Amino acid sequence: MSQTTRFSDAGPVKLTAKQANIFVWGWQQVARFRDAVCGRRFGKTFLGKAEMRRAARLAMLWNVSIEDEIWYAAPTFKQAKRVFWRRLKQAIPVAWRGSRPNETECSITLKSGHVLRIVGLDAYDNLRGSGLFFVLIDEWADCPYEAWEEVIRPMLSTCRYTVNRIEYVGGHALRIGTPKGFNHCYDTYLDGQEGREPDHRSWLYTSLQGGNVPPEEVEVARRKMDPRTFRQEYEASFENYSGVIYYCFDRRLNHTSDTIKRGDALHVGMDFNVGKMAAVVFVIRDDLPRAVDEIMDVFDTPAMIDQIKARFPEHSITVYPDASGDSRKTNNASESDIALLKKAGFVVRVNPANPAVKDRVNSVNAMLCNTYGERRMLVNTDKCPKFTQGLERQIYDEKGQPDKKGGFDHRNDAGGYFVVHRYPINHRIASVTPLRM
Ligand SMILES: Nc1ncnc2c1ncn2[C@@H]1O[C@H](COP(=O)(O)OP(=O)(O)OP(=O)(O)O)[C@@H](O)[C@H]1O
Ligand SMILES: [Mg+2]
Repeated sequence: MSQTTRFSDAGPVKLTAKQANIFVWGWQQVARFRDAVCGRRFGKTFLGKAEMRRAARLAMLWNVSIEDEIWYAAPTFKQAKRVFWRRLKQAIPVAWRGSRPNETECSITLKSGHVLRIVGLDAYDNLRGSGLFFVLIDEWADCPYEAWEEVIRPMLSTCRYTVNRIEYVGGHALRIGTPKGFNHCYDTYLDGQEGREPDHRSWLYTSLQGGNVPPEEVEVARRKMDPRTFRQEYEASFENYSGVIYYCFDRRLNHTSDTIKRGDALHVGMDFNVGKMAAVVFVIRDDLPRAVDEIMDVFDTPAMIDQIKARFPEHSITVYPDASGDSRKTNNASESDIALLKKAGFVVRVNPANPAVKDRVNSVNAMLCNTYGERRMLVNTDKCPKFTQGLERQIYDEKGQPDKKGGFDHRNDAGGYFVVHRYPINHRIASVTPLRM
């Protein structure tokens, strides 16, 4: 299984064929950013050793400024140290080192002055200060995305070096991990796929493909684990995470390519919030809902009305808003949000008060997939990317309430107001004529 050729860069270790694909030769030209999504025990961290060694060698060879460091990062410092500090010391030959490794900081300074360091992304604000030539982020799906966006990515911007008289600007990154639902790890994996970001490449391998876990062992895991967890952990599959609210949603199975046709009556679920108004646009086919468009992050109700009118001038519009919009005003006008919608000429369907949040969530889940496996509500995931993301990612908070911090609540609420109004689970039995015995 191990490949024996061309591994002087990887050092004394021999990479498996799949590890070698991720390692990438001439990577400074073809893939500044790399993402490897792999099953458990694939050999991700092992590959990290070869990566750190190569980065150290190239930093010396290419005269990278000593201001630009080389980092191994993991979700917490404690974890990073436990998993990698010993391995880092093994990976960097004593002959390359300028002094003894710093056991407190977990850093190694090379004779050239370059610094290799172990960091935790739990306290990422403290990490600012240097530039970066190379960063390896392990367990990427468990790291906070903000650490990348706010701290690491800017640190990669200033690094410059010259190879064969060609000047390169920008440090490099490899993010590796096992999936955790459809979170940022999924996004960055997609960025690296064919036809997406030009300086970015990504790979997805199962545990079995790593060659370190025998097939019998994988079979034992398959028998013992629930199918969703098994697929996630061993097949590196992006699965709906168990804590998500709309666990019945599956972007593959609930997808439709249906779009708005001429003459379609449009049904718009709407949530009011200054600066973050959200609307999901549905059509109804055979009495069942299809989400076919969305309007997100609009400033206020008048702006939302303008957008709806501009986008769908030829269609009849029924709006299903948040019932609290009857008293609340998201704009400076004297009229309520709901009054403004009516004045704009839309039909407004709203109950006197919102149903319980639980009922709304249950109605949406029931439409996404019922006990018979019927997926009655479909979503055009291309036309509704934010609604799709919201359904996949909103989780329950520590009090068991739908989380509002992740920023997914408004879009889901918007879609939910329509669904619970039109397709409630609790039909009012009282309104049915009583049986006469
Ligand atoms: N190319 C290789 N040659 C020899 N042994 C390897 C190789 N790659 C990985 N291994 C061994 O396989 C085992 C799993 O490797 P590693 O810890 O790197 O996996 P991982 O994908 O990081 O696992 P986890 O999902 O638990 O983080 C380790 O014992 C490691 O030493
Ligand atoms: Mg690992």
